[in-house]
Amino acid sequence: MKAIQAVQRIHDLAPGVEAFHEAVIAGLSAVPKTLSCKFLYDATGSRLFDRICTLPAYYPTRTEWGILRAHARDIAAAAGPAAGLIEFGSGAGHKIRLLLAALRDPALYIPIDISRTHLLASAQTLSAAFPQLPIVPVCADYTQSFVLPDMRNYCPGRLVGFFPGSTIGNFTPEEMNEFLRRTAQLLGEGALFIVGVDLPKAKAVLEAAYDDPQGVTAAFNLNLLRRINRELKADFDLATFRHEARWDAAAGRIEMHLTSQIEQMVSIAPHRIHFRRGETIHTENSHKYDLETFMNHAEATGYKSLASWTDTQRLFALHMLEVKR
Ligand code: AVJ
Repeated sequence: MKAIQAVQRIHDLAPGVEAFHEAVIAGLSAVPKTLSCKFLYDATGSRLFDRICTLPAYYPTRTEWGILRAHARDIAAAAGPAAGLIEFGSGAGHKIRLLLAALRDPALYIPIDISRTHLLASAQTLSAAFPQLPIVPVCADYTQSFVLPDMRNYCPGRLVGFFPGSTIGNFTPEEMNEFLRRTAQLLGEGALFIVGVDLPKAKAVLEAAYDDPQGVTAAFNLNLLRRINRELKADFDLATFRHEARWDAAAGRIEMHLTSQIEQMVSIAPHRIHFRRGETIHTENSHKYDLETFMNHAEATGYKSLASWTDTQRLFALHMLEVKR
């Protein structure tokens, strides 16, 4: 099984259940109640998210795929030979295949993901398709700072960061700037950073994308309560909460909420949390940036914009940035 051997031992920097408990209690004690969207991705959540990506209403995945296919060669030309790829939030690992296939002799692939099972499964599948490629999976929460395994010796070419899917929109604009600065440091001068960014658009299109008629996004959001019940011995009654997607035009973001349909107490041992009827847990922000606004953020945080590509309907954007020298 030569294919499997190219996958190096996982670097496990993932936060444990204590950190989850602490974050849940803090988030549900706050006003308004809020939980970080990174907690949506347990094994079930990751699987549900993969299904979201195939839904007719969820345009980002297929649209970004099209843009990437149209410009993979431009990216490969900029990257040059023997590049090292670092992907933030690698998920199922479909998009990276397009890039890897276009690159000339890629030297290294480092997928970073918070979901350990997902990370390992996709690293092994990918390795079967690219048996020569060294893969170093890193299980980490990239919203916090962390150190990467030393790449310079492995890869003589350029480093290429890859952050697809518009996951960067989960950060607030301030958090995004901080992340971009930190990533510029991590990747180093002259590195490329390929970032997928969702574009602002009609409210109806956005709300359908985040509250699909099949109810998969609702299940994805509600699964967070199921996870809290299972991992933290809580007693959320899922039938009393409803998924909601709200477009905040002023903030340029879609918000996901879980809304309590009744007044109730929920226990998360040893705590008890009160919910008013109609009170929500804010579980995700998904910010949308037009081309110029995002480029301004990138310029302000240590990058030069090399190119920005969109689809013909202007639904989604892919930015190619370079860390300033
Ligand atoms: C994985 C963060 C890009 O914000 O569009 C999909 C997550 N949430 N449907 C997004 C998500 C609800 C998704 N990202």
